[in-house]
Amino acid sequence: MSRHEMPRKKIGIDTLRNKKLAGEKITMLTAYDYPTAKLVDECEIDCILVGDSVGNVLLGYDDTVAVTMDDMLHHAKAVCRAKTAAFVIGDMPFGSYNLSADDAVRNATRFLKEAGCDGVKLEGGAAVAEKVRAIVTGGIPVVGHLGLTPQTAAMIGGYRMQGGTSDAAGKILADALLLEEAGVCMLVLECIPTEVAAEISRRLSVPVIGIGAGSGCDGQVLVINDMLGMQSGFTPKFVKRFLNLDGLMREAVQAYRKEVTAATFPAAEQSFAMKPEEHKKFAAGTDATSEVV
Ligand code: KIV
Repeated sequence: MSRHEMPRKKIGIDTLRNKKLAGEKITMLTAYDYPTAKLVDECEIDCILVGDSVGNVLLGYDDTVAVTMDDMLHHAKAVCRAKTAAFVIGDMPFGSYNLSADDAVRNATRFLKEAGCDGVKLEGGAAVAEKVRAIVTGGIPVVGHLGLTPQTAAMIGGYRMQGGTSDAAGKILADALLLEEAGVCMLVLECIPTEVAAEISRRLSVPVIGIGAGSGCDGQVLVINDMLGMQSGFTPKFVKRFLNLDGLMREAVQAYRKEVTAATFPAAEQSFAMKPEEHKKFAAGTDATSEVV
């Protein structure tokens, strides 16, 4: 931002709903740390999701089930320190909202009070509708998440497309309507057919954000490490790699290793020198404690 540019206005639920009404697409990316959140915000992305995908993406867990409230708050605090204009959503980890409405409200409150998030996200439909209602009643914006719900992947046949049959699609639509009635301010749909996501986006008045849900949604979200191509290996069909950062990082690390082993790094421009007269004295052993400049 230049000295004369106005800082971006803080994005709230009303901004996002107005975008849907105006037919403007909403942008969302995950971020798990301060510099990434700052960069994403400066690129004028509308929403930052501190996703529990931090578990697989950054922390080396096998899945998101192992992610704890402590993990989430640690990363959510770092993101919120970037003081973004983007609407920041803290992802409630498995076990933090499933047991009781009291737990759900207490843990959701921590995302706002301790980290500084603007809202929370949780996974599931009918099974969590009462928890959603309780959190919203507690004054906290809630984002729903239907379709492929990674925290309960074992219950839905693994990490694969959901809602492929008319019955299954109807169940997702019914859950979406139930969540809207329970008070969600936004809904994420993951890995469902384009037709189903487009119909749900039409039927709901709150913004619907897709990931692997086609172009008919009101907006899109991707895991930032996926879209930057930061990790090699399996890439889900719905991910577009906008950059091959993994390749670029490997080239840089290998170049560093080569230059250090060949003693071509550091060169003079990355090094400090003494004044010649001090060096002379130092070399002659008369003043070995001269300060390095
Ligand atoms: O945790 C996450 O990153 C998510 C997105 C995939 C929507 O929930």
